[in-house]
Amino acid sequence: MELGLNGKVAIVTGGGRGIGRATVELLAREGARVAYCSRSLDQLRAVEKAVTAEGGTCLPVQIDLQERAAADELVRQTIDQFGDLDILVCNHGYHQIKDWEELTDEDWERTFDINFFAAMRVCRAALRPMVAKRNGHVVIVSAGSIYKPSIGIDEHPHYTAAKAAVANMAKFLSKRYGPDNILVNAVLPAYGISREGIDRWAKDAEAQGLTPQEHFVQMADNIGLLPALHRPGTTEEFARVIAFLVSDANTYLTGVDVQIDGGGLDTP
Ligand SMILES: NC(=O)c1ccc[n+]([C@@H]2O[C@H](COP(=O)([O-])OP(=O)(O)OC[C@H]3O[C@@H](n4cnc5c(N)ncnc54)[C@H](OP(=O)(O)O)[C@@H]3O)[C@@H](O)[C@H]2O)c1
Repeated sequence: MELGLNGKVAIVTGGGRGIGRATVELLAREGARVAYCSRSLDQLRAVEKAVTAEGGTCLPVQIDLQERAAADELVRQTIDQFGDLDILVCNHGYHQIKDWEELTDEDWERTFDINFFAAMRVCRAALRPMVAKRNGHVVIVSAGSIYKPSIGIDEHPHYTAAKAAVANMAKFLSKRYGPDNILVNAVLPAYGISREGIDRWAKDAEAQGLTPQEHFVQMADNIGLLPALHRPGTTEEFARVIAFLVSDANTYLTGVDVQIDGGGLDTP
């Protein structure tokens, strides 16, 4: 199947590590020109090195999306550099685990500011050029835990509420911009672990005399969310789903919450 990503222009927010980094690298490998952002220059540079080593084209943008003007600036720099915009992967996120009774107003504000308001501003800025040419694909990265806001010891009600809000916005945007031929979906990850994270878990397992899979099943069981596949997902596995959703191969899937969690969550 041809993804048709060659020559496309994409923005990936939070592209410095994790799922975002894997998505930048995969889209670039497929021939897209990819602008991506984070606040950490060292991570941006590491991704640039990896992409260019494979002959890909990318634009690292060091920016703090909590700042009001940042989303417009990111889109402006992308269009200045590449002359177009076809794809947005709104992936950046901030995750804090803290008990409900200990959460301060500042915790709630920061969590909503990054996970919801910054995502809203990025979508608003990226949609303008897509509407003008009546073509585009958007993926907003939400979280599997929106359907299970209290999983065992893993308390983060402010995070799940903000991530539920972006999934809700994705549904709205799909309806609003469907007539403009713009497809908008949310992805809901769980257990998207980088290679380093998986290696770290393997070491923990060894120290406890367990196989990596036994260790993972124990941990996942403890927080009450065990994937059907009994293993975590690699960031590359998440990137592949995202790449399909933003590709020309996806012409009729829009307004959907796509759970990427190895079969961990039951549909609500
Ligand atoms: N991994 C999972 O299993 C999982 C599960 C549920 C949901 N998710 C969601 O999936 C997305 C990716 O997850 P991940 O695990 O790959 O996350 P991650 O490793 O924490 O990476 C998040 C990225 O967002 C960037 N970012 C955060 N705040 C930012 C800001 N204010 N301005 C610009 N960039 C910012 C970070 O860079 P800097 O910190 O350097 O700015 C980083 O590049 C996130 O939205 C996360 O909430 C992931």
